Amino acid sequence: MTTENLTIQITKVNESKITQVDWENLPFGRVFSDHILIMDYINGAWKTPEIVPFDNLNLHPATSALHYGQAVFEGMKANRMVDGKISVFRPEMNAARFRESCARMCMAEIDENVFVSLLAQFIKIEKDWIPQKEGYSLYLRPFMFATDSYIGVKPSDSYRFAIFACPVGAYYTEPVNVKIEEFYTRAANGGVGRAKAAGNYAAALYPAKLAQSQGFHQLIWTDAISHEYIEESGTMNIVFVINGKMISPSEDSDTILRGVTKRSVLEIAKMWGIPVEERKVSVKEVIEAAKNGSLEDAFGAGTAATIAPIAKIGFRDEVFQLPAIETRTLSNKIKTYLDQVKSGEIQDDNNWCLKIN
Ligand code: COI
Repeated sequence: MTTENLTIQITKVNESKITQVDWENLPFGRVFSDHILIMDYINGAWKTPEIVPFDNLNLHPATSALHYGQAVFEGMKANRMVDGKISVFRPEMNAARFRESCARMCMAEIDENVFVSLLAQFIKIEKDWIPQKEGYSLYLRPFMFATDSYIGVKPSDSYRFAIFACPVGAYYTEPVNVKIEEFYTRAANGGVGRAKAAGNYAAALYPAKLAQSQGFHQLIWTDAISHEYIEESGTMNIVFVINGKMISPSEDSDTILRGVTKRSVLEIAKMWGIPVEERKVSVKEVIEAAKNGSLEDAFGAGTAATIAPIAKIGFRDEVFQLPAIETRTLSNKIKTYLDQVKSGEIQDDNNWCLKIN
């Protein structure tokens, strides 16, 4: 299947739900737009994609994904630009990551151009759902799961790919408090940590719940072997600024999700001449920097989270308060730059945004 011959069967809703939306109160991920795109993989081929009214999925109780976990997803956002067009930030990176996630989970793959084309056509149908308000966007959730109705452990022969959308504001509405996790593990070498596999999030829920009961929003995951090196945070990648240097865990291992926002943050910093180090980041150096005042900033980077400043880091019995958000000039400037590129207020010199008329 190529993008040239890609046709989508479209059945629109009779009446949109959009007038029922309380745009002043949009809890993240709970309001859904009118349509869903669905494309099934059967007998070794992708079938004609359809855009249909958003509804529940009808699943066989033995649906393979529910038992053996072949399920992957992506997260992206469509933004309304100042000239009325729509932008999507670096969708080809999500398309590539999605394909890699599918490959790792032994699932059918989707050509990256097809992925982006389906996404763009879906956005065109749902364009009225893109919030106009600053800081708000239409969150897009492409996902795929195994659909064989079969009780037996093997890669499924059939899959469903779908995209739905939610108008959203910020995922975190306040600076986040994170705890460095030294016992539980998110991902081990040779595992599936680099894939955006649904089960990675399920496995993180219990340790995150323990941290939440201690007053933290999320965890900072460390490596599975020594727990001495920082990997990522629960819902986002992590970046530190120590003594004017931007430092982030390198993605050499297969335990860290390759984040589109984090990659862009590091590229912007380099473009602005800020020293950037992608390498192993030890818990020790971060804690020492927090103690001696050289930890100028720490933030999460992700599509949902955008740039989420970290207010406090918990480590063992101590909690370190990080500098006031107003003093975090670099991450604040990067966030503004990213927002302005997406909204078209400044030129997209890197050609990062897919623009949809
Ligand atoms: C995203 O940032 O898009 C994610 O998928 C993370 C999830 C916690 C919402």
